[in-house]
Amino acid sequence: MLGITVIGAGYVGLVTSVGLAQRGHTVTVVEVSERRLEPMRQGVVPIHEAGLQEGFTAAVDAGRLMVAREAPASADLLFLCVGTPINDRGHADLAALTGALRDLRPQIDTGAAIIIRSTMPLGTTDRVVREDGLPESRTFTNPEFLRQGSALGDFLAPSRVVVGTGRSPDSELLERLRTIFEPFAAPIHVVGYADAEAIKNASNAFLALKLSFANEIAALCECYGADADTVLQAVGADPRIGPLFLRPSFGFGGSCLPKELQTVAMAGLERGLEMHVTVAAAEANLAHQDRFAARLERRLAANTGTRVALLGLAFKAGTDDTRTSPALRVVRRLLAAGYEVSAFDPAVRQVAVSEAPGLRVSESAAAAVAGADLVAITTEWPEFRDLDWAALLRSMRKPIVVDGRRLLDPAAMRAVGADYERIGSAPPPLAGPESAPGPIGR
Ligand code: UGA
Repeated sequence: MLGITVIGAGYVGLVTSVGLAQRGHTVTVVEVSERRLEPMRQGVVPIHEAGLQEGFTAAVDAGRLMVAREAPASADLLFLCVGTPINDRGHADLAALTGALRDLRPQIDTGAAIIIRSTMPLGTTDRVVREDGLPESRTFTNPEFLRQGSALGDFLAPSRVVVGTGRSPDSELLERLRTIFEPFAAPIHVVGYADAEAIKNASNAFLALKLSFANEIAALCECYGADADTVLQAVGADPRIGPLFLRPSFGFGGSCLPKELQTVAMAGLERGLEMHVTVAAAEANLAHQDRFAARLERRLAANTGTRVALLGLAFKAGTDDTRTSPALRVVRRLLAAGYEVSAFDPAVRQVAVSEAPGLRVSESAAAAVAGADLVAITTEWPEFRDLDWAALLRSMRKPIVVDGRRLLDPAAMRAVGADYERIGSAPPPLAGPESAPGPIGR
């Protein structure tokens, strides 16, 4: 078996480490942040991801997974899984990647293969190889297609594996990579660096386009009294379109899809190419979130309500990640408009004050909802369906429920007394004027 070192114990690195250990490899995962490292030393994974804790414990117990602050002196394969966040100018910030490569110089010099799994915007791999003096024949990219919440499952059963190479890759190392990926029983695409970057960037951007379009059609359905699920399910039945990624919401988020729209748009711009569709998808996504916030404000204003409860802060169910969460954008808008906002999320215990100053994060759905004038469903956690809605509604000042994820059953909600509406279906007529003044007299 090959000696594998994985740099970075974030979502990608930790899942890669546990997944490779589950495939029988011996892996050392290297993390510089004490905040992440310390719990792992105690046997606890620092992120919420299905099956990861169990996989981590089993791999550590079997002696196949080690946690370290620094990379071991030798390794056959170095997987780089550090963040490449988008900076204010829409460029990837490669500081963590180049810093890690600098620290790994001794291992690189002993002949290890360098496999970059961090997301690389178009044109960046070539530049990193050149500027950081990496051996091109031994430097590969291997973009990941993991969804948070089902990342380990996606790692173990990928739809495809992409390996990006330089002009003349070391054939022995390439063969080693094949040995690692062949048991995954997925097609392996060995392509150039730019191809690999484009595959990753375009895959995410396409998913984002699909979502923005689905959300736009859902909004249109609302206006004409059509039902978004009925429509989109039938649309997705065409195999050319496909049924997945058509579940409408009030906007999508996360650290990947919104960022990828930005990187694709920027990649085009840098070559003088206007990326009309990509840019529109990003703008539409923000507009959908703001439209939802405005909808909540209208309902509150019409009922002279001042308190809102949100169920869900994570950008999607199954994760504790709130990065670019549509829920937080809505929270900020409501807070800015002067409403009192409380929220509950089964996986999110706190939100940085800077992200949403004034937001009260509650310990339970009951605590968040009690006394509210309106509750909004903002993350599609299945457990929200099983809440004691009759009791929750009784604890509210007004039993208004606005479902931004089409999660709850309208008939069941109305049966327990909810004044229920959801995105993608025509809202019931408002009782009061559409634009009555809000709590601070806007
Ligand atoms: C995304 C891609 O799906 C992965 O393939 C990719 O590897 C990953 O980014 C990455 O680049 O690392 P992720 O951000 O974890 O994965 O989440 P998604 O499952 O794509 O969901 C993104 C957003 O779309 C969430 O807010 C989710 O709630 C929303 N969504 C998703 C919908 O509103 N409707 C859907 O039908 C699907």
